[in-house]
Amino acid sequence: MPADHPDLAGKTAVVTGGSRGIGAATAAALARNGVAVAVVGRDRDALDGVATSIADAGGRALAAVADCTAQPDLDRLRALVLDRFGGVDIVIAFAGGYGQPVPSIEENAEHWRHVVDSDLTAAFLTISTFLPDLTARRGTVVTMASSAARQATRAAAAYAAAKSGVVGMSRHLAKELAPQGVRVNCVAPAMIEHERVRHSISDEQRQQLTRGFPLGRLGTPDDVAAATLFLASAASSWITGITLDIAGGSVMP
Ligand SMILES: NC(=O)c1ccc[n+]([C@@H]2O[C@H](COP(=O)([O-])OP(=O)(O)OC[C@H]3O[C@@H](n4cnc5c(N)ncnc54)[C@H](OP(=O)(O)O)[C@@H]3O)[C@@H](O)[C@H]2O)c1
Repeated sequence: MPADHPDLAGKTAVVTGGSRGIGAATAAALARNGVAVAVVGRDRDALDGVATSIADAGGRALAAVADCTAQPDLDRLRALVLDRFGGVDIVIAFAGGYGQPVPSIEENAEHWRHVVDSDLTAAFLTISTFLPDLTARRGTVVTMASSAARQATRAAAAYAAAKSGVVGMSRHLAKELAPQGVRVNCVAPAMIEHERVRHSISDEQRQQLTRGFPLGRLGTPDDVAAATLFLASAASSWITGITLDIAGGSVMP
């Protein structure tokens, strides 16, 4: 398959949430474009599986276990990546999830903090850990919000708040880091169907969900990967601070 973004060849990327779903598809797409990729998550077996399939396809990948909410893990991750790749050009901060609906009357402080930690704080800590490397190479960052940050959805209030925080944080960092040549953009997908999502909904629910998207289908991890590579590559060199809705026409702000 030809590279979509030849300027990416020879660069290095850290992809958190790379062990499955959207992050794994994005890591594979970066590798197909000649990027050496560190795939990051907490599940060693899943990370090894992603790294092996990238290597089998001729790409370069490093499986790295880290809890992105924990600064000591991120410090170890940075040391490992610098040792193996020598620097970092691209940070894809996609770790997160936990968007299942929770009626606010049943919400509790522990779950709220877990979601905000996992979806917002983890993204900030990941980016700040690699900032010296990103500024050294005038790198790019892509963060992960959600349609839950763009309109009210069934997702928990904690998830909407955390992902809205990602939008604001990304915009802030974009302005702060622009003078150093670092671009920061955000993607906001809606209903991306992958293995875990497929197992959690019935055929009937799937058909009902599909009817909510003007483009007449659910999203795929490759839809998000394609938009992310655009934002990570020189194709978007005059774009920073945006949130790109990947939502089949269901979000038109
Ligand atoms: N699927 C959708 O429809 C959709 C829509 C909008 C936004 N999103 C966002 O897209 C991202 C990926 O979602 P997905 O659907 O692909 O979910 P997923 O299949 O559940 O994957 C979540 C990923 O995040 C990683 N992760 C979670 N917490 C982590 C932590 N503390 N430290 C390190 N890694 C962590 C997981 O790694 P391990 O399992 O290895 O720990 C896994 O790789 C999430 O941020 C999610 O909120 C998804």
